[in-house]
Amino acid sequence: LQKERRIVQEAHEYSAKLYHYMLQNLEISKPAKDYLRSRGLGEPLIEQFGIGYAPPRWDTLTQALARKGYSEAEMEAGGLLSRRQESDGYVDRFRDRIMFPIHDARGQTIAFAGRLLSDGQPKYLNSPETALFSKSRTLYRLHEARSAIRKSGQVVLLEGYMDVIKAWSAGIHNGVATMGTALTSEHAAILRRFADEAVICYDGDDAGQAAAQKSIPLLEEAGFRVRVCLLPNRMDPDEYVSAYGPEPFLREIVEGAVSAVKFQLIYLRKSHILLEEDGRIRYLRDAVRIVARRDSPMERELLLKELAQEFGVALETLKQECYEIRQRDK
Ligand code: UTP
Ligand code: MN
Ligand code: MN
Ligand code: MN
Ligand code: MN
Repeated sequence: LQKERRIVQEAHEYSAKLYHYMLQNLEISKPAKDYLRSRGLGEPLIEQFGIGYAPPRWDTLTQALARKGYSEAEMEAGGLLSRRQESDGYVDRFRDRIMFPIHDARGQTIAFAGRLLSDGQPKYLNSPETALFSKSRTLYRLHEARSAIRKSGQVVLLEGYMDVIKAWSAGIHNGVATMGTALTSEHAAILRRFADEAVICYDGDDAGQAAAQKSIPLLEEAGFRVRVCLLPNRMDPDEYVSAYGPEPFLREIVEGAVSAVKFQLIYLRKSHILLEEDGRIRYLRDAVRIVARRDSPMERELLLKELAQEFGVALETLKQECYEIRQRDK
């Protein structure tokens, strides 16, 4: 079994080199190169992230792996080839896609994500779960980000591959992403070994904000202090960096990240109509419930003070409400 894993790992190393070589050297890769450039990924980033291209043919990798002596069945189990639909035999799993190699914590290539050059489904095709690759444990770029995470005591969590790359180009070298799956407690535990602050920088759209809302308790349970970035106009970090540049991304978005509880209050606001009295009352009640979960009495008081001022309610009343919730939930 150990030997099988090693073979699949070597095949990934070889495939990553081949995909990269083809992007850099084949005429057929020109649309992929143009696409990357149109998204702000020039040579330095292509090299830094080992980006490649899988041509449209059905058997580019199939043939190359066969020439190297790898067994097709093993390569299928490893996620590099697929079984033919109609007949016997195997074909490339990834075709006509920009290839992003995915590494384990030691920096060994264990999987790929392949992006279409135009609209279509799925936009990103990821390797399946294999003996080497588990989505619930893998974080994109952890092997490269680890030292920066450790040094700063902070990890920046992004949603997508492009976001990690563009954030990196903006100077965020402590950024990682999950593989299109929700953050798990396993991810949180792995990251907690290197940092005590997590900055969530997910997409500004509804899906991203809902995902942030879900990740907060998970990260807090792992012992992280959590902050959340607020991106304008439903943008994702990649779009923000392209539109406004690296400086505003660093200073305003990442450094300007708000505390988890502030984010939860902002998020809560969206589902309440504050122009109406019962909307305001329901918001306040839910808001105090969020505040009541904070451990620090001082933090609770400051947050309640802000709410009291904004809604013209006596601080004592909110404190009482908060106290009762805490008694009840003990
Ligand atoms: P998004 O839909 O936000 O895509 O998915 P993106 O990262 O902004 O992609 P670009 O900028 O259009 O290239 C966020 C992440 O979810 C996973 C990927 O990890 C992606 O980066 N995902 C998304 C998939 O795995 N498969 C998909 O089909 C779509
Ligand atoms: Mn190169
Ligand atoms: Mn998204
Ligand atoms: Mn996105
Ligand atoms: Mn994007």
